[in-house]
Amino acid sequence: MQTSPLHPDFGLTIEDIDLRDVTADHLWPELRHAFETHSALLFRNQDFDDATHLKIAKLFGPLENRKAMAAGKELPFAISPVSNETKSGVTDAKALHTQNLQANMLWHTDSTFLPIPALVNILTARVVPKSGGGQTELASTRNGWATMPKHLKDVLQDAIIWHRLSNSRDRISPELGALPEMRQWPDRPWRALWPNPVTGEDSLLIASHSFAIEGIGLKEGQAIIDEAIAHCTKPQDVYSHEWQVGDILMWDERAMLHRGQPWNYDEPRTLSSICCSVTEADGLSSVRIV
Ligand code: OGA
Ligand code: MN
Repeated sequence: MQTSPLHPDFGLTIEDIDLRDVTADHLWPELRHAFETHSALLFRNQDFDDATHLKIAKLFGPLENRKAMAAGKELPFAISPVSNETKSGVTDAKALHTQNLQANMLWHTDSTFLPIPALVNILTARVVPKSGGGQTELASTRNGWATMPKHLKDVLQDAIIWHRLSNSRDRISPELGALPEMRQWPDRPWRALWPNPVTGEDSLLIASHSFAIEGIGLKEGQAIIDEAIAHCTKPQDVYSHEWQVGDILMWDERAMLHRGQPWNYDEPRTLSSICCSVTEADGLSSVRIV
């Protein structure tokens, strides 16, 4: 594969692969290995329709179907647009729908509040805002953990962190955090450290959804969580992706934090996202609380 680093400390741009050609036997083993070792992969100038999106996602694992998870039964899967577009134009800058997109601008890991965490988010741009902005940014919690100051390591090494979707939504507005869909998942504990099953390297499973550390007061726990996230996301440790239609960015949710950046909300911006859930092979048992 012809590659170049995305950031000096993580990620790869893969220059010479057409994702339409990837199958379980052809190119996938190399891509999956690159995903485990580099945590983020970028592909450019791809002809990437929904069928190819679904095909690549299924190679990673089970598609994350939140509706089915919430209902506790099988339901048809639908690709999630990350978008301010509706049939009648863009959503108002103050609308709850726009606020929910703004909650993506807090550093987070997807799905830590779900019954099963995510392995990957495969994100592609469909409509890019005309006057710029709307970047997606990545930071590595594997590097962040390797350089974590001792006073945080001592607390987080064996910690259990609690996650709640409304914790991040409350930070945007109490009205957003109060919506039933933000409160539908019971609080979820995971071990803070996730050893990669292939490389053995630890990363930190942490997010804007993280609201408490087991055994520590709420305020003190949140302060430690915020400090650890700030350590992982120092400006020099961040990769900022300027979207072009045809780009596909996929990252390891076990080892990366991400966030969106603002844009002019009068302009449409549409990304398309598929997350896959982790399985035992991805190290689920090392974060699960038994
Ligand atoms: C997401 C997300 C950020 C963005 O799709 O999970 O956080 O840039 N997106 O829209
Ligand atoms: Mn996200």
